[in-house]
Amino acid sequence: MKEFTKHILVTGGAGFIGSHVVRRLLTNYPDYRVINFDRLTYAGNLENLKDVDRAPNYVFVKGDITNQQHLNKVFSDYGITDVIHLAAESHVDRSISGPMDFVLANVVGTVQLLNAAREYWGDFQNNVFYHISTDEVYGSLGDQGLFEETTAYDPRSPYSASKASSDHFVRAYHHTYGLPVRISNCSNNYGSHQFPEKLIPLIINNIVQQKELPVYGDGKNIRDWLWVEDHAHAIDVIFHTGKNGETYNIGGLNEWTNIDLVHRLCVILDDKLSRPAGTNEQLIRFVSDRAGHDRRYAIDATKLTQELGWSPSIRFEEGLEKTVDWYLANTGWVNHITSGDYTKYYEQQYALRKS
Ligand code: NAD
Ligand code: TYD
Repeated sequence: MKEFTKHILVTGGAGFIGSHVVRRLLTNYPDYRVINFDRLTYAGNLENLKDVDRAPNYVFVKGDITNQQHLNKVFSDYGITDVIHLAAESHVDRSISGPMDFVLANVVGTVQLLNAAREYWGDFQNNVFYHISTDEVYGSLGDQGLFEETTAYDPRSPYSASKASSDHFVRAYHHTYGLPVRISNCSNNYGSHQFPEKLIPLIINNIVQQKELPVYGDGKNIRDWLWVEDHAHAIDVIFHTGKNGETYNIGGLNEWTNIDLVHRLCVILDDKLSRPAGTNEQLIRFVSDRAGHDRRYAIDATKLTQELGWSPSIRFEEGLEKTVDWYLANTGWVNHITSGDYTKYYEQQYALRKS
């Protein structure tokens, strides 16, 4: 049997970003074995990896990170040397309607995973526990300024509070027990395989289906968008060359108001769907705002760029067009992953927002 040089446990590898990370590791590092541990919630889908799941260095284990016994078994069965931890409940709107799922998966699950790593690794030879987090832990910006690694945490949604809490536990395990951890906090990702409840895929799919396009509040909230494969590249770089105990911000200096972004998608899709110019914009509806809606996120990634040499590879306009093309070419994927209760859930939520 082939000797692998690392046995990397990737949690949440069937989700949006996780699937890009798994694909990158399997493709670029045939000497590593990748153990994808995922509960397959509504957001996790093994179809995301169907192009690589026969790779000889890939293993899938269905499991829940809140289950300590199962985690201990996986560490020991597969001789886990490193962890890249992405599993989480990730949608802010769902965290507002049901915070407890976020506490369990994001806080309790992360602590269980830290415990499993600490127990199995003992004196921590060359192991890495890499925790993937979000810029939302820093709170909301005014018109000026960027989030830096030293910005004080100020989470405002149940989602960001749960991620902030998990970040604190990861750092606490480093300071208290010497666990070799690193953390990155990234801005909003976009690209292929994102569950269509997040803004960009939701707008694309609603345009395709000629459904109304919900824009929360005045549409002037700002997000800093990063191509998901650039995030996966940054994770690769930080995993291999980052320092233990350090935090790295990841972002693309690419700020868009939601309404400008929605307009842009309307224009791209008028063209691609051969609809007369201005057709899709007629679907835009301003609906009630998200409770506690953070106004602006923007990331300063200077540390990652200067210390580790990472930079984004693709302009937003190009990435957005590639993303639209992917969703147009993969309507089967969209139909499949939304075929359960999702469409009914979405229609209920939308009706509440419109009323
Ligand atoms: P996602 O919702 O698409 O995927 C999450 C994955 O985690 C799914 O496959 C799901 O099945 C799995 N999962 C959830 N709970 C689990 C549990 N208890 N045990 C095992 N698996 C479980 O999320 P994503 O957008 O890919 O985000 C991945 C990570 O990156 C998250 O930690 C998120 O906080 C972080 N992040 C996301 C963004 C973004 O823009 N999407 C930006 C910055 C950071
Ligand atoms: P989202 O994709 O949920 O990411 P996050 O809340 O983590 O930033 O939302 C991105 C922005 O788009 C956010 O300001 C909320 C807004 N939004 C809408 O206006 N309409 C929608 O239907 C959704 C899902 C989000």
